[in-house]
Amino acid sequence: MIVVDDIHKHFGGFRAVDGASLTIREGSITGLIGPNGAGKTTLFNVIAGHLKPTSGRVTMGGEDITGLPPHELFHKGLLRTFQIAHEFHSMTVRENLMMVPGDQTGETLVNAWLKRRQIAREEEALRRKADEVLEFLTISHLADEKAGNLSGGQKKLLELGRTMMVDAKIVFLDEVGAGVNRTLLMTIADAILRLNKERGYTFVVIEHDMDFIGKLCDPVICMAEGKVLAEGTLDEIKANEQVIEAYLGTGLKNKEMANG
Ligand SMILES: Nc1ncnc2c1ncn2[C@@H]1O[C@H](COP(=O)(O)OP(=O)(O)OP(=O)(O)O)[C@@H](O)[C@H]1O
Ligand SMILES: [Mg+2]
Repeated sequence: MIVVDDIHKHFGGFRAVDGASLTIREGSITGLIGPNGAGKTTLFNVIAGHLKPTSGRVTMGGEDITGLPPHELFHKGLLRTFQIAHEFHSMTVRENLMMVPGDQTGETLVNAWLKRRQIAREEEALRRKADEVLEFLTISHLADEKAGNLSGGQKKLLELGRTMMVDAKIVFLDEVGAGVNRTLLMTIADAILRLNKERGYTFVVIEHDMDFIGKLCDPVICMAEGKVLAEGTLDEIKANEQVIEAYLGTGLKNKEMANG
């Protein structure tokens, strides 16, 4: 579905991504792991159009999408989640979801006056869709809560919910589990699995929590120093010499890697 071909992203003389190549299979939940500073987020930003690569190519379904801006990728169904922006904190959870689809009629005043009925219908449809999303994520009870009052994990669920308001094909999640309590983390994992199985979403997941990766991801791709080191099941990755070395080499002896 997505082919990343020899991507480089240099910041000055520093090679944050240094010739990374990988393939993301349609229908997979692909895990992207690697020690801090490996270049995972930078690679995500290149794929999702937030950074232009120094060189290399990204294709989606055979089409060259290298360097396309995020809104064009969004229309192709490629999304990367972001934390809920500050300006949305004072809006309710339902309103946050209703904000997402970009092409609403009510954006100009003339339209607003001429097309009041159409707008009312669109809003009604959006509201129904938002409520459906909340139900899918098992957070209907939070519909009228201000987004700013949600816990970290609930905000992550809301971010995931926002991808469901447009018909996403492939979603990139960067450390969706960071700072989230165990129970909510499993709710998020379940939502990802169900979106994958029931709605055909493809996911690429960056995560340091190996339980989370193990529960969701196949294959798992490990990066270090801007390069792809290995790809396989989590067990294969954990047994890979180069991977073990990369984790130990950072000095931050990764507990899960060492124990697992
Ligand atoms: N805009 C930038 N300018 C300069 N250096 C950058 C920039 N963005 C990232 N880097 C550097 O590139 C390297 C890769 O960073 P990146 O954030 O992609 O790593 P990561 O694998 O996501 O790490 P982590 O697991 O800690 O999130 C790091 O050394 C980082 O300091
Ligand atoms: Mg990162």
